[in-house]
Amino acid sequence: MHDSASEWLAPQPIERAWTLPARCYVDPEFAALERAAVFGASWQLVAHAAQVRGAGDHAVGEAGGVPILVVRGADRVLRALHNVCRHRAGPLAVCDGRGARALVCRYHGWTYALDGALRGAPDMDGAALETDAIRLPAARVAEWQGLVFVAAGAAPPFEDLVAGIDAHIGAHRFADYAFDRRVVYEVACNWKVYVDNFLEGYHLRRVHPGLARALDARRYRTDVAAWHVLQSSPLDAAQGPYGAAGADDEALYWWLWPNTMLNALPGRLQTNRVIPLDAQRCRVEFDYYYAQGTDPRTASKDREFADQVQAEDGAICEAVQRGLASGSYDSGPLNPTQEAGVFRFHELLRAAYRARLGG
Ligand code: FES
Ligand SMILES: [Fe+2]
Repeated sequence: MHDSASEWLAPQPIERAWTLPARCYVDPEFAALERAAVFGASWQLVAHAAQVRGAGDHAVGEAGGVPILVVRGADRVLRALHNVCRHRAGPLAVCDGRGARALVCRYHGWTYALDGALRGAPDMDGAALETDAIRLPAARVAEWQGLVFVAAGAAPPFEDLVAGIDAHIGAHRFADYAFDRRVVYEVACNWKVYVDNFLEGYHLRRVHPGLARALDARRYRTDVAAWHVLQSSPLDAAQGPYGAAGADDEALYWWLWPNTMLNALPGRLQTNRVIPLDAQRCRVEFDYYYAQGTDPRTASKDREFADQVQAEDGAICEAVQRGLASGSYDSGPLNPTQEAGVFRFHELLRAAYRARLGG
């Protein structure tokens, strides 16, 4: 047990690793701490590259609490501008769009070039305005494998976040996949319960008997990197909802610190973001992409099965949240092999907490 005030905050050896204390999943104080220490200092997935291919194409998003507008400039450079007007904080865009010539604030019409420089402020003649000095602040942006990420605050270099992943992606061409649809779930659990659950295959057989049959569970593996975790499993050719799998076909499940998940099957990518709503609730956003020419029936069967897996995960996560909030439990030991991904996540969380709490 970890009863001394800060012992649980120290780095742990994996053989003796315990989960984070229950209060980290229940207490609004930790939710507030994570807003700055985790979400305010990490890379957030905001768009697919196909949304911002041409000059003026733009997508709205958020990183670390800052509204963001990802926009491709006339110079073809992709930028992540704060979607917050310098006049009185109005929004430049309220939805995704294509081919804008300029960014016009929805409130009083101040107009910015696609690179964020102020171009005009209607009827401001009486004000001493240094138009040249005014521009929308920019955040770091990275385009990778067809996905657009934006950095909030002191996020690590993007290359570190995804180091080594390209080598595993193999024949997948995520950048060429087409968006199919978004599905959003609200789950009555802390966002970390959802990530913990994603990060281990230990629960497969109990919670997802259907999915367990589709995978070759004996060859399920977890590879832990500095800022991401890959779980992978060959598909079982004989059975399951994924049809006749080839000998090399695999299910690949990446988690990227702190809240992005990518699920890849042959010809399919699901991106998944989990967003805290409050200490004990989160929203999960799934975006489905398929290779061009995918049979709509294959896609619809795939979505049906994914809905089922998601319902199974949602139900167990909500039950775990009730357990964590019950006062009956504080912390428990992790399985060093099958929960190595959870361990990595908790180590990164402990490091983020230590930076704020000391210890
Ligand atoms: S807030 Fe943007 S023009 Fe007034
Ligand atoms: Fe699951």
